Amino acid sequence: MKDFSGKIAVITGGGTGMGRELAIQLAEEGCDIAICDVSTTNMAETLSKTQERAAQGVRTTAYACDVRNADAMNSFAEHIKAEFAVSHINLLFNNAGIGGGGSFVEEARDDWERTFNVCWGGVYNGCRTFMDLLVASEEGHVINTSSINGFWASAGPAASHTAYSASKFAVKGFTEALVTDLRLNAPHVRASVVMPGHIGTSIILNGTGSDDPQGARTVLRMMGQPIDEMDDQEVKAALERLGEGFRDRAPTTAEDAVKIILAGVKEEKWRILVGDDAFALDAAVRAAPEEAYDIDFSGRLG
Ligand SMILES: NC(=O)c1ccc[n+]([C@@H]2O[C@H](COP(=O)([O-])OP(=O)(O)OC[C@H]3O[C@@H](n4cnc5c(N)ncnc54)[C@H](O)[C@@H]3O)[C@@H](O)[C@H]2O)c1
Repeated sequence: MKDFSGKIAVITGGGTGMGRELAIQLAEEGCDIAICDVSTTNMAETLSKTQERAAQGVRTTAYACDVRNADAMNSFAEHIKAEFAVSHINLLFNNAGIGGGGSFVEEARDDWERTFNVCWGGVYNGCRTFMDLLVASEEGHVINTSSINGFWASAGPAASHTAYSASKFAVKGFTEALVTDLRLNAPHVRASVVMPGHIGTSIILNGTGSDDPQGARTVLRMMGQPIDEMDDQEVKAALERLGEGFRDRAPTTAEDAVKIILAGVKEEKWRILVGDDAFALDAAVRAAPEEAYDIDFSGRLG
């Protein structure tokens, strides 16, 4: 797809971060935008920023839904068809995601499955719900957000990272298989997997909610923070510090990440790495896969 003007894009997790930036930059290029998220407040802000910068005539809509819920996703699709009076879409960005679910050994099943079901289940539900509408278009593209954790199942030697990594490997494997499936059965629709490195967003702050001390403990433990002696107030403050640092000291901004993603879609790349850190890690894992989980592996990346 060389031109987004006059197209219709669906973006999950459009409330903040890369989802919000996708909405803004696509609308600037003349693309109609439909976002969903669990946060209506954040979606309202996204729509307002999107409308400020949208090309003339661009339509926008938002729908509150949880990507884990297949019925809710179907209602989102019905909402778009009614709102835009269409029976197709051109672009589907399965972008919604959360962190958490670090240790399979230590953590509760619910915490683990929450992360897996948002990060993998959301992509699966998005594709299930919208595939017919993509196939009904003249030109379609599905873009599934995985991560560097889709090819390296680690957050470094001090942290367990099982649910997120498992989900992102699933997203990568599924999307790679879709490339051939679409070529055989719907060749006017493409698929891409996005693998960002560290991008400056609020994903750590959004993922648990600072009102959820248990969730905050899960994330901090996953990041190798010494939390055993901390009370809930200290845990909350530590999470905020960690989340703000993650957002503000990233090598790539959400805005730049989305420029890279949209350029990759236009170039019809099925594999879109985002950030120098993602390229360096990809090269290192390919060069020495047996060493990828050595204790000093990430230290060797520099
Ligand atoms: N930020 C990074 O460093 C990074 C790196 C690699 C991959 N990613 C991936 O990029 C994607 C976007 O993340 P981001 O960094 O922009 O974070 P973000 O937290 O800013 O955006 C994610 C959005 O998804 C929404 N969301 C969460 N759970 C949801 C659910 N159940 N249903 C609907 N919406 C939900 C959140 O409310 C939020 O608006 C995610 O899939 C994430 O895993 C991020």
